[in-house]
Amino acid sequence: MDRIRITGGGPLEGTIPISGAKNATLPLMIASLLTSDTLTLKNVPNLADVGLLARILGNHGVDLTIAGKRPGQRSGEGDTMHLTARDIVDTTAPYEMVSRMRASFWVLGPLLAREGQACVSLPGGCAIGTRPVDLHLEGLTKLGAQIELESGYVHAKAPKGLAGGRITFPKVSVGATHNVLMAAVLAKGETVIENAAREPEVSDVAQCLVKMGAKIEGIGTSTLTIQGVDELSGAVHPVLPDRIETGTYAMAVAATGGDVLLDNARPDLLESALDVLSGAGVELTVTNRGLRVVRNGARLAPVDVETEPFPGFPTDLQAQLMALMARADGQSRIRETIFENRFMHVQELARLGADIELEGDTALVTGVNTLHGAQVMATDLRASVSLVIAGLVAEGETVINRVYHLDRGFEQIEQKLTNCGAQIERLAA
Ligand code: UD1
Repeated sequence: MDRIRITGGGPLEGTIPISGAKNATLPLMIASLLTSDTLTLKNVPNLADVGLLARILGNHGVDLTIAGKRPGQRSGEGDTMHLTARDIVDTTAPYEMVSRMRASFWVLGPLLAREGQACVSLPGGCAIGTRPVDLHLEGLTKLGAQIELESGYVHAKAPKGLAGGRITFPKVSVGATHNVLMAAVLAKGETVIENAAREPEVSDVAQCLVKMGAKIEGIGTSTLTIQGVDELSGAVHPVLPDRIETGTYAMAVAATGGDVLLDNARPDLLESALDVLSGAGVELTVTNRGLRVVRNGARLAPVDVETEPFPGFPTDLQAQLMALMARADGQSRIRETIFENRFMHVQELARLGADIELEGDTALVTGVNTLHGAQVMATDLRASVSLVIAGLVAEGETVINRVYHLDRGFEQIEQKLTNCGAQIERLAA
């Protein structure tokens, strides 16, 4: 298994191109199941999760091609992907695949809407809490699906097709919103989804569905109203830039000090996190190319943050913020409200010398003067990158084991950081 070795200490200087968002790319790829025409996605990041989903969709009959980059194209300017689901050849998504990536569970809604049936394994993904799928199943049931659970599989049927309904989610769920939205666009009549996730990736998918002929109102709000249509057509859609990658590199620069332009970033999608960073003393400037992040010298002020659904502070940046605050000038309080058990990075950060105390869903992070390099283990996607940030500021050498988690969600991370002066390299197994 690959490892990453980082020699910490230096500032980051230069430009980092921000890739297309993983969390938009995955549901956009899945949306291709809704039409027999070709869906073309641009700015697709080259990530392990994208490759895995491509294989899963291939099983269902999606013909998928990726046009490579043209010579001279910037790295980070993603690939163009063509997906054509002319015929659905298999409505089963097997355990071997779904257990490796939670988002692949979202094929359930589109398969059910188009084929009237689907059999999808219960999901896997990052080991961050129980992550049930009750909201997905309740939502699809409101659209008329008959659902049974058997041997770890969801068997769903809608022999006469899905019909519109009113769904009020008791809790905000990105995945359940994707699943129900993608089913509702082909259901007969009107569907109203209340307390829908407002994450920009949900809006990106909704906008792509509209290009494909779907009728959706309220995009970007917590109430989505959908008028079902008989069929959808193809479309061309660029994936929006990754706000989590943007926030991650902003925190990396805030941690090491330096001056970096996050090229192609969309700061408007990340206001809550950027407010936290500027409150802590990081200099942020929105430019016509993206976001410039500068920090010189002084230690950062501590923060008091709770994770929340969008537009609040994203849970996907919680681990990175903790790594950053490990060297702040005082004690930070970071509360995780979305996932239980999303603190597995704490013990690894402690190996580097961080002073973090856990009290239930809250971490109290007391800034220390110095972190020291050590051997650490990547436990999930966002936790892994928090270790990269800590490794970049730690004195001496940090080796991160099990980096395959990083490859699931961060495109060319070593290269992007090396180009800005970091000493980071992959050690092949
Ligand atoms: C998505 C993101 C993930 C992000 C998360 C929250 C993708 C590929 N993944 O994950 O990066 O951290 O949103 O912003 O986009 N829940 C239930 N029942 C359900 C579904 C969810 O109780 O049926 C709970 C979960 O356990 C969790 C909360 O709802 O506590 C939010 O989960 P959800 O928004 O569904 O996360 P994902 O869609 O899995």
